[in-house]
Amino acid sequence: MKKIVNNLSGNITNTPPIWLMRQAGRYLPEYRETRAKAGSFLELCYNPELAAEVTLQPLRRYNFDAAILFADILLIPQALGLDLSFVAGEGPKLSTVRTAHEIEQLKPVDDIHDTLSPIYETVKILAKELPDETALIGFAGSPWTVATYMIEGQGSKDHARARRWLYEDFSGFMSLITMIEEATIEYLSMQIQAGAEIVKLFDSWAGALPYDYINIVSIEPMQRIFAELKKRHPHIKTIAFPRGIGAAYELANVPEFDCVAIDASVSMEWASTVLGGKCLQGNLDPMTMIVGGDVLKREARKIVDQMKDKPFIFNLGHGITPEANPDHVHDLLEAVRG
Ligand code: CP3
Repeated sequence: MKKIVNNLSGNITNTPPIWLMRQAGRYLPEYRETRAKAGSFLELCYNPELAAEVTLQPLRRYNFDAAILFADILLIPQALGLDLSFVAGEGPKLSTVRTAHEIEQLKPVDDIHDTLSPIYETVKILAKELPDETALIGFAGSPWTVATYMIEGQGSKDHARARRWLYEDFSGFMSLITMIEEATIEYLSMQIQAGAEIVKLFDSWAGALPYDYINIVSIEPMQRIFAELKKRHPHIKTIAFPRGIGAAYELANVPEFDCVAIDASVSMEWASTVLGGKCLQGNLDPMTMIVGGDVLKREARKIVDQMKDKPFIFNLGHGITPEANPDHVHDLLEAVRG
């Protein structure tokens, strides 16, 4: 069994498996070169050969235990009919959905594959080309995080429009969540059929929700997605990443999540107590990948020591940043496995 799947099944390995969020990305010169060749970030996402190529680039440099499909969480809104573009230095820009009537104007869920089929081709190429011991992770955004981009039309500090809709018209708001949920089930099911062995839901903005809504808006939609995927594909392993929810991480102790990814705002030791020994992933501060040296080794060892008798996957608390030094990844691997 692949090392990471072993840990996701609740077992403990000698040293933890490791991969990094955004391991294919702008900190690697070869990524920037391939993106230029593709023309733009979105053209790269929809070009199966080049998307597979950038997925494999970090694996050629580093001996990670998993590869993550190269794509983006905002492809589902695009497949549902929203305009999407990435403006350099400004992040994503989307047309918006702000009323129940505008939800009805979206394309039907059944049509998403017209847009998303190149992504399934990327997964097929990867399933063929990855070394036997490397697991393939598919992913999507959580319904709440994807909804925030659809409602705001861009990244946002306080997600004010999304939270306001939630209070003013809960059932209209929840019908958007339900639609994203249904699209995500079909999208991830196709990724699994194409060869993804693990699926992860990124709920990057879970921490913006008020406590009383975390369960119903963040956790439960992710549970329903994973429950349906496990029904269709009994072998599939699942990771949920409700980022930034602090004390509310206890709400993520549900059977549909084989693993919960933890951000750097809490200690792994605490998370593991609250989550009852469930497999956890995390949680090194991405800043240490810029700083490097003894700081990187010390902070990484601290996490490995806290988690040494527990099912655990080493990762960062959030994605590696464009400013990270690629050489530091070698030092991290040595610190974690040494
Ligand atoms: O982790 C991986 O290597 C797999 C690929 C991946 C990307 N985005 C590629 C990407 C994954 C898993 C994501 C998830 C994603 N996308 C999230 C959730 C995770 C998180 O970071 O919180 C979110 C919120 C998005 C939406 C998104 N995509 C934003 C806000 C941006 C702009 C970021 C910026 O700094 O400009 C993107 C673009 C994006 N997605 C890039 C990459 C490699 C950079 C695009 C580029 O090459 O210019």
